[in-house]
Amino acid sequence: MSNETLTITDNRTKKTYEVPLFKGAVRAMDLRQIKTDAEDFGVMSYDPAFMNTASCQSSITYINGDKGILRYRGYPIEQLAEQCTFLEVAYLILFGEMPSETQLKDWVREITHHTMIHENIKKFMDGFHYDAHPMGMLVSTIAALSTFYPDAKNIQDAQVRRLQILRLIGKIPTIAAFTYRHSLGLPYAYPDNDLSYTENFMSMLWKMAEPKFAANPALARALDILFILHADHEQNCGTNAMRSVGSSFADPYVATAAAAAALSGPLHGGANEEVLKMLDEIGHVDRIPAFIKQVKGGKGKLMGFGHRVYKNYDPRARIIKQAAEEVFKVTGKNPKLDIAIALEQIALHDEYFIKRKLYPNVDFYSGIIYQAMGFKPEMFTVLFAIPRTVGWLAQWQELLQDPEQKIARPRQIYTGYEKRDVVPMAKRTPCKN
Ligand code: CMC
Repeated sequence: MSNETLTITDNRTKKTYEVPLFKGAVRAMDLRQIKTDAEDFGVMSYDPAFMNTASCQSSITYINGDKGILRYRGYPIEQLAEQCTFLEVAYLILFGEMPSETQLKDWVREITHHTMIHENIKKFMDGFHYDAHPMGMLVSTIAALSTFYPDAKNIQDAQVRRLQILRLIGKIPTIAAFTYRHSLGLPYAYPDNDLSYTENFMSMLWKMAEPKFAANPALARALDILFILHADHEQNCGTNAMRSVGSSFADPYVATAAAAAALSGPLHGGANEEVLKMLDEIGHVDRIPAFIKQVKGGKGKLMGFGHRVYKNYDPRARIIKQAAEEVFKVTGKNPKLDIAIALEQIALHDEYFIKRKLYPNVDFYSGIIYQAMGFKPEMFTVLFAIPRTVGWLAQWQELLQDPEQKIARPRQIYTGYEKRDVVPMAKRTPCKN
């Protein structure tokens, strides 16, 4: 619309500028024309932590944080979680449309074809210390794949990109399972290509001496649903890392490793592990009020609560709660569930959390399910990284095909010294450090 503009008056010069609005946003570069004189650099936008800055246009994932809506390519997460498999959703996220029956069959075959990893990767993983954190192993091993597939550097070739996407989605469960076996000192279990994506992952985790691992179907389905819920979440910290590193035309393995590194932080995907630690620390329902008081007093956070975008309810948390019931029918209830539910209830009725619109996020209940399934807390973020690889790769493809994108390179507001001269060593006084 022609009247979709903003009029800005620069009170320093009294000049007025008309700036177009693009899909409700101001292009930051349009501010640069606002100058006090020809020498002036021009106005910049300042937005630490991207609180109000769109870094790209994307057609992959839609979130309405106020209404608690999440859709992949237009499809509500609730429908996808109920009716689809993870690899079906992966196809949707990557290619934009639901696969036909034949397309899905081919897609599953292609991914399955890439589940094996080079024996040298296995040797590489052997080098990790016995108590290495699985996320550290995962991040490093994904990066190491770059050295095994030098062809991946040819990121402008669509066929080459497709091959790396297949490799990454195929191999990440294998690497993830190997990190688990390594931390337990168990021999690695190789992929079983007769099994579904999730069943094969479970087989690589838990297969012992039996010739074929039979996953419990309810647990395999629950894991598949959890994978669907974690597959993409638009421009979160990890995805931003993927896009930022990918914008330098680095290969997808190192870019994915960077995204996984971002995910590992406790404010992001690492929160699921922290939730379990927190529930352990609380220990009993009776101790919740004291814990909440501590959080409100600024000592620590209620992990698994709060979200930059969701200010109503994280729809993934609601689906996870349902999946938890199915899992507990098989495994028996995780005793931590009572503490988590009581904690959620108290927090949801507390002025501090209401005022700040803090609700349970995806990480609040996922760890409780994972633990009931038999995972150690250190594995939880690895379980997040497996499906999120799909989202990272879809966002990476979108980035490379977007003619507006360039190398990501923010500006800064310099707050340091003006020019000063080096003082000879003999004349220096010790500084505080
Ligand atoms: N517990 C207690 N207070 C909180 C929490 C929390 N979990 N989260 C936010 N707040 C407070 C925060 O202290 C601030 O208070 P005040 O206005 O008095 O300073 C206010 O709420 C706004 O928080 P913010 O830190 O400005 O919000 P943000 O958008 O920068 O951070 C967040 C979002 C997810 C990092 C944050 O809510 C948090 O640290 N949550 C706990 C970690 C967590 O569960 N992370 C998983 C996120 S969802 C999955 C994922 O992204 O991987």
